[in-house]
Amino acid sequence: MRRRTVLSAAGAALAMLALGGTASAQEAMKIGLILPMTGPFASTGRQIEAAVKLYMQQNGDTVAGKKIQLIVKDDTGVADVTKRLAQELIVNEKVGVIAGFGLTPLALAPAPLATQAKVPAVVMAAATATITEASPYIVRTSFTLPQATVPMANWASENGIKKVVTLVSDYGPGIDAEKAFSGAFSAKGGQVENMRVPLANPDFSPFLQKVADAKPDALFVFVPSGVGAQFMKQFVERGLDKSGIKLIGPGDVTDDDILNGMGDVALGAITTQHYSAAHDSPENKAFVEAFKKANNGMRPNFMAVGGYDGMHLIYEGLKKSNGAGGEALVNAMKGLSWTSPRGPVTIDPQTRDIIQNIYVRKVERVNGELYNVEFATIPNVKDPVKAAKSN
Ligand code: PHB
Repeated sequence: MRRRTVLSAAGAALAMLALGGTASAQEAMKIGLILPMTGPFASTGRQIEAAVKLYMQQNGDTVAGKKIQLIVKDDTGVADVTKRLAQELIVNEKVGVIAGFGLTPLALAPAPLATQAKVPAVVMAAATATITEASPYIVRTSFTLPQATVPMANWASENGIKKVVTLVSDYGPGIDAEKAFSGAFSAKGGQVENMRVPLANPDFSPFLQKVADAKPDALFVFVPSGVGAQFMKQFVERGLDKSGIKLIGPGDVTDDDILNGMGDVALGAITTQHYSAAHDSPENKAFVEAFKKANNGMRPNFMAVGGYDGMHLIYEGLKKSNGAGGEALVNAMKGLSWTSPRGPVTIDPQTRDIIQNIYVRKVERVNGELYNVEFATIPNVKDPVKAAKSN
């Protein structure tokens, strides 16, 4: 009873905000950045917060006459907390944008609030394809797993790989990766077997034993950013590094935040993704150098570039909407194009996902450090799940 009263009061406050009291009427534009700053996915929070702050440092804090004010909140990686924080930020702090969202469940939880209050939600990390369909106020600067994964299936089938076992974290993005890979790879005549491992406290060893017994040409892996180190340790412990089974997958497993700590076992892994710290462009060289300088030498990963581009999207959107928030800001974001550290990008006006190059990369040692070295580019890739729906 009491809970219902509290909820409906919050609902009324959200509805009132949507009616007139939006942040666009004020001089400040507050941005609520909700991230896992503690817990098992804290590396994602650390990378995105650092990138957002770097963007503001480089581009100032006044846009279209609005003073940009950043409020960072730690959701500890728990979806109920993300939702409560989003509600507090919208109702009490009157933020004009919510942003961040380190994992899929954390991006989905506040989606109804964004819709109800007409507050744009910029998803900088989470990557299950359906997320942008949860609210017309969601705009994404990260990627989708099917977008990163279909090129992996194509590369594998064109490079003599016939039999693959997939091993994915058992939740949204893992299931997306498994389906995208299996569909595209078997359509080209490949043979594939699927395995899923729990997201929380994963023990890979029983699965890796099965992989060793199955003797596929390649093991396809998706684990979320930060978990790859633990996976790689068990990969070695099970002797799979000496089995001749090739390691492939979307780039999350060899994420730049942890890659250099993995050692020689990672050498030769082939992955497909939208960002490598080794991407060869003047924009990326400047980004990596500034990011490292501001963060004690920490190397930016794909989460950082999602945060950096997310801020760019908010800034450029505000310029285009003349400082207006709400629906005007979302509309202004649609169709924006720019040169990111990852390469050329565009916000798809139909889906509010990001259209971007996907690169095929191989882990190599460069000047004593491990990097995902890009060797092929598939240009301007859209999320294939939504592209198939619209055909
Ligand atoms: C997600 O939960 O959507 C997610 C998290 C980390 C990744 C990719 C996807 O590396």
